[in-house]
Amino acid sequence: MFGDALPRARRFAELLAGPGREQGVIGPREIPRLWDRHLVNSAYVGRVVPPGSSVLDVGSGAGLPGIPLALSRPDLRVVLLEPMARRVAWLEEVVAALDLDVTVRRGRAEERETRRACGESDVVTARAVAPIGRLAAWAMPLVRPGGRLAALKGASAHDEVRRDADDLHAAGAADIEVVECGAGDATTHIVVVHRTERRSATGSGPGAGRRGRGRKDRSS
Ligand SMILES: C[S@@+](CC[C@H](N)C(=O)[O-])C[C@H]1O[C@@H](n2cnc3c(N)ncnc32)[C@H](O)[C@@H]1O
Repeated sequence: MFGDALPRARRFAELLAGPGREQGVIGPREIPRLWDRHLVNSAYVGRVVPPGSSVLDVGSGAGLPGIPLALSRPDLRVVLLEPMARRVAWLEEVVAALDLDVTVRRGRAEERETRRACGESDVVTARAVAPIGRLAAWAMPLVRPGGRLAALKGASAHDEVRRDADDLHAAGAADIEVVECGAGDATTHIVVVHRTERRSATGSGPGAGRRGRGRKDRSS
């Protein structure tokens, strides 16, 4: 998955297991499962990101999924968004240590200042930030018309999409799909929320397309 960037992915794993654990950006119980639950799980999101996209990773925290995505997909322009000063400092250290061409911004997704500074990206990514309905309300204004939100979720992804369908469409979703990558315990569910093409329809409610359809990515 990481190709030529594998040595830097290994370095990221070392940083998480060492200073990352000491600084509390990742829990000690996560260290034995850094690769499958965190680095590979994060890099899977690249499967739903078109070539050359601008990507905003909302609530990046320890740098997930944004850092593995940037490492595995050098064609992307990645911005990491994080409100907590301590985590912003961590992200800046990691970006410098891995010599990544990635921008780190401090802010919350729903803030006007964030919308002004970040504009609209082709893709907004997020993992473990908020339930999909609330996340869509915050994140869809940061997605360009015709772009997409890609949220990494657990096995309950389909249920979450069904439960929050009204919120998703109110946020401007034209189409929603759940893409499964990997197999067994390491299966990753990516909720892909496509923003409607027409700017005027955003946030106006119905925007309904196909709801909650699924596809399995068998290439892993
Ligand atoms: C549970 S952590 C997950 C971090 C990382 N995405 C991961 O998967 O390991 C949630 C992160 O979202 C950030 N966050 C919470 N609310 C946010 C908001 N409104 N806008 C942007 N980030 C937010 C938190 O500061 C925290 O770093």
